[in-house]
Amino acid sequence: MAGCLRAADRHDVIACARRPIERLVLEQSDTSAEFPLRALTEPADAARVDWVLLCTKTQQTPFTAPWLARLCDSSTRVAVLQNGIGHVARVTPLVGNARIVPTIVYYNGERLAADRVRLRHVADHDLAVADDADGRAFAQLLDGTPLRVFLSSDFPTLAWRKLLINAVANPITALTLQRQAVFRRDDIKALCVAILDEAVAVARADGAQLADDESLRTMSTLLTYPPEAGTSMYFDRLAGRGLEVEALTGAVVAAGQRLDIATPLNSALLAMLRAVSDAASAG
Ligand SMILES: NC(=O)c1ccc[n+]([C@@H]2O[C@H](COP(=O)([O-])OP(=O)(O)OC[C@H]3O[C@@H](n4cnc5c(N)ncnc54)[C@H](OP(=O)(O)O)[C@@H]3O)[C@@H](O)[C@H]2O)c1
Repeated sequence: MAGCLRAADRHDVIACARRPIERLVLEQSDTSAEFPLRALTEPADAARVDWVLLCTKTQQTPFTAPWLARLCDSSTRVAVLQNGIGHVARVTPLVGNARIVPTIVYYNGERLAADRVRLRHVADHDLAVADDADGRAFAQLLDGTPLRVFLSSDFPTLAWRKLLINAVANPITALTLQRQAVFRRDDIKALCVAILDEAVAVARADGAQLADDESLRTMSTLLTYPPEAGTSMYFDRLAGRGLEVEALTGAVVAAGQRLDIATPLNSALLAMLRAVSDAASAG
């Protein structure tokens, strides 16, 4: 996001990072551009801004509290660029009266080195927000960047659709330690449809407007991804990092409990993912 905003060169962009960074190389298809980047590593050096783009993994959100406390006041907008469905609940305790703009990310952003990222457009649009005043302001913020923003009249349904993909793609690749090729196996396909059927029932009870054959449609979408592609949970497991469990499978199971829908397969996945993630975090 910082690279795309620097490419448009319409805003004063500050990266709030854990390690110093002075420049960023943004790669796209066959182009590569380098931009100087202003970065802060100490929250005490930060001051109030118009926009915050929160781009950490969901489990890292609480640790951004010192940054958010310095960056936000009641006129700040905080775009939450994270997977899952609980953007507002997750961030509200950290931002005071700032306005939260939940955002669904469709682009593929791969960090190749500390100062080098590759942007791939893998869907019709790169980001989705609600078609309201805050969502439209977010789309305007990104005018001139390579990113295409979709304004949705039914953001909760889109968020659930994205979660459905993540609720199978991430756990299955992370637990089997195999890339997307694993979804070409008939036994894994059948398991995924059963996992999705549970999640779809929860999503519908939560108000998502889904098709009768939503699980099969989700599998069809998943099978359009290249077999050699990984997922973020797969890469996090390979690197021995904690996993983004609670916002994905955890969100399905938690919503199922809240709405009284049984999710035995998702609950089994959740127990295994938590065990893997806790061992990585402890290590
Ligand atoms: N990447 C994608 O293609 C993609 C696509 C769709 C959705 N998403 C979602 O977008 C979210 C972000 O994913 P990602 O792939 O960009 O994650 P990522 O590659 O792990 O990047 C997270 C960044 O947050 C930084 N960070 C973590 N804690 C911080 C703190 N306390 N202060 C400052 N910086 C901190 C990390 O810094 P360090 O460099 O110090 O670790 C890292 O640069 C996730 O919810 C993910 O599911 C990502």
